[in-house]
Amino acid sequence: MKLFAGTANKPLASAVAEKLGISSFPIDIFTFPDGERRLRIEEPVAGKEAIVVQPTSPPVDSNYFELYFTIDALKRKGAALITAVVPYLGYQRQDHLFREGEARSLAVVVALLEKAGADRIITCELHSVKIEELFSVPFAHISALSLFAKKIQTLGTEDATLVSPDMGGIRRIRILSEILDNMPYATIVKNRDLATGHVSSESIEGSVKSTAYIVDDMIGTGGTIAAAVSLLKRKGAVKIYVFSTHPVFSGEATSILSNKDIERVFVTDTILVPNEKKFATLDILSVADLIAEAIKKSQSAS
Ligand code: R5P
Repeated sequence: MKLFAGTANKPLASAVAEKLGISSFPIDIFTFPDGERRLRIEEPVAGKEAIVVQPTSPPVDSNYFELYFTIDALKRKGAALITAVVPYLGYQRQDHLFREGEARSLAVVVALLEKAGADRIITCELHSVKIEELFSVPFAHISALSLFAKKIQTLGTEDATLVSPDMGGIRRIRILSEILDNMPYATIVKNRDLATGHVSSESIEGSVKSTAYIVDDMIGTGGTIAAAVSLLKRKGAVKIYVFSTHPVFSGEATSILSNKDIERVFVTDTILVPNEKKFATLDILSVADLIAEAIKKSQSAS
């Protein structure tokens, strides 16, 4: 088995390789002045299983194309089986059509992954369970909820509620509640204007306690978290913690998250957070172990 690190998150690729006791190989990429890339795999892979680790986080299209080209290069070099580890699967917010006339972007990028030659896909914390239906190759899904549960146990579950910042996260919050011995949970009713992206959170189903643990799959602009924090404060929450698997951190997200009303923000390393986007109350938990375990499991199944 040989593991290749895409450019989107080399530290995670190295950490996964270390957990597997193997090396992480780089991909040789030359960028032409017009931005096109020529990509080459130098390491011999003929007859071997090849794994490529590449989250398709921003710049999403660029990271997707690098992944497609890497898979194609591995296939042409004779890899026997190609596993694409895509810890953050870009375009998953467009997994279905919200309005007539839209593109189903996620279906397109997933079809291209398979067309390029991915034989297996491992991904993390998908936005919706329905996304699984888009894959025709073997597919494994890992979740950071077990990492979040451990952290919440150390922070304390007394007089505390788990909070989903929108109805879409209710399945996730129920799973976490079960892991935490049926810890109480509440769900915010969120509205997002599809034209402007503006988020408003007016009401909450379930009771608010002194401590609130907001749990979401991803933080983009931070608008969802900001609206949730403001509503929870109005409803009497004293300490608010944020847990989110994917730190997409676009726009003003980091200044919104370093807000004094948020005790700490826990994310994972599915996406590499550059130093300039780190802030004092940010904690990054690693999914490397979970990915390594998923790789081992997929090997024993094949
Ligand atoms: C939406 O349904 C997702 O679960 C996230 O809540 C959302 O994508 C976060 O985006 P933003 O941070 O831009 O509000």
